Amino acid sequence: MRIEKMDIRNAEIFQVLLDNFPDMIHSVDDDGNIVYTNKTAEKLLGYTREALLSMNIKQLYADEILESVERGFADLKKQGDYSIESLMKAKDGTPIPVEIRSFSIYDDKGEFVRTFSIVRDIRQVKELQQSLVHAGRLAAIGELASGVAHDINNPLTVVMLSNDMIMKAVGKAEIAPDAPLGRLESWAKDILRAARSIRKLCDHLRNFSRGMAEKREIIDLYDSVGDALFIANNRIVSAHVEVDSKLEKGSCFIYACPNHVEQVFVNLITNACDAMLDRPTRKLTISVEECEMDEADSWKCDVADTGGGIPEDIINDIFSSFFTTKEKGKGTGLGLSICRGIVSEHNGSIEAKSKVGKGTVFSVIFPKSEPPEGGEQGS
Ligand SMILES: Nc1ncnc2c1ncn2[C@@H]1O[C@H](COP(=O)(O)OP(=O)(O)OP(=O)(O)O)[C@@H](O)[C@H]1O
Ligand SMILES: [Mg+2]
Repeated sequence: MRIEKMDIRNAEIFQVLLDNFPDMIHSVDDDGNIVYTNKTAEKLLGYTREALLSMNIKQLYADEILESVERGFADLKKQGDYSIESLMKAKDGTPIPVEIRSFSIYDDKGEFVRTFSIVRDIRQVKELQQSLVHAGRLAAIGELASGVAHDINNPLTVVMLSNDMIMKAVGKAEIAPDAPLGRLESWAKDILRAARSIRKLCDHLRNFSRGMAEKREIIDLYDSVGDALFIANNRIVSAHVEVDSKLEKGSCFIYACPNHVEQVFVNLITNACDAMLDRPTRKLTISVEECEMDEADSWKCDVADTGGGIPEDIINDIFSSFFTTKEKGKGTGLGLSICRGIVSEHNGSIEAKSKVGKGTVFSVIFPKSEPPEGGEQGS
């Protein structure tokens, strides 16, 4: 009598344990009919336990894999155990990637009785795997870009040196400005500016793929924004965006890595251009004002666009890595997470305010720095 009570108690304990097990557990008979299932199965698939106990196991799998499910079930009955990744189907049709470990139970004569299976929901694992594959691809592209940037440097040095010689020769030649070659000097200056920007881009690519911490120095936000506008010029022109930069040279200094800060603005400007592509008014306004952050005197730089805006239900996700609303191949979803990383490394902050149909303002805050010794920074 005492032993029976213990058995009942043990059975109850087992039931509680199985019901609270994080994985779905179920058992099916020779024909594939479900004869046992724990509570986790209800949460995972959306059916009640009663409903599951009246179903055949095949009803829980996606139609396209039914053949392989039948083959797997036959193998399991013969082999005794079986592990596989598969795709289940919830009551509402949601496909659920799962990892299944199954065991067969046989009677004394060796005849198959039933199976027991432990089914683990691996949706998060799959998402993580995809992110890792994505990150791996990006790392490979980063390495490739770094190699290309390195190879561009040598011919670029030749271009810059030759251009330097042209500028010197033109300076000596004293060509009159209205002569046919009078604009040679200004063309040579354009080449120098463009070559410098290519060199800067190459440095970015190399530093970026190495994840290198760059040297900090006192920089003028006017220069960072100006360089970013120059780098993003192609996007600005092709999207027909009107730019109004209200920054003044020599007034807003911060202590930061110049390339990193510039990258923040490049990302914000390119996002703004993308957001305005199909808009009737396309205006990008960049302004700066003083503010206080954590009791430190700071600069708040606003990058405002007249794009489509960011819906409220996604605005909290935009700074997450790999979050993008752009179609495949158009966006990696890394731009803003890189911005946030850079800004917080500089003890700053970044936030977005948006109105759907009106536009978006990204505010980047950096602690102020004293101007460099000797006044303004050179450009
Ligand atoms: N100015 C903006 N206006 C409207 N939506 C924006 C704006 N900036 C960012 N977003 C939204 O935030 C998402 C994430 O931006 P993020 O820069 O991180 O990635 P992405 O631009 O999609 O891709 P990537 O920058 O890697 O090319 C965008 O896909 C877009 O939905
Ligand atoms: Mg972006």
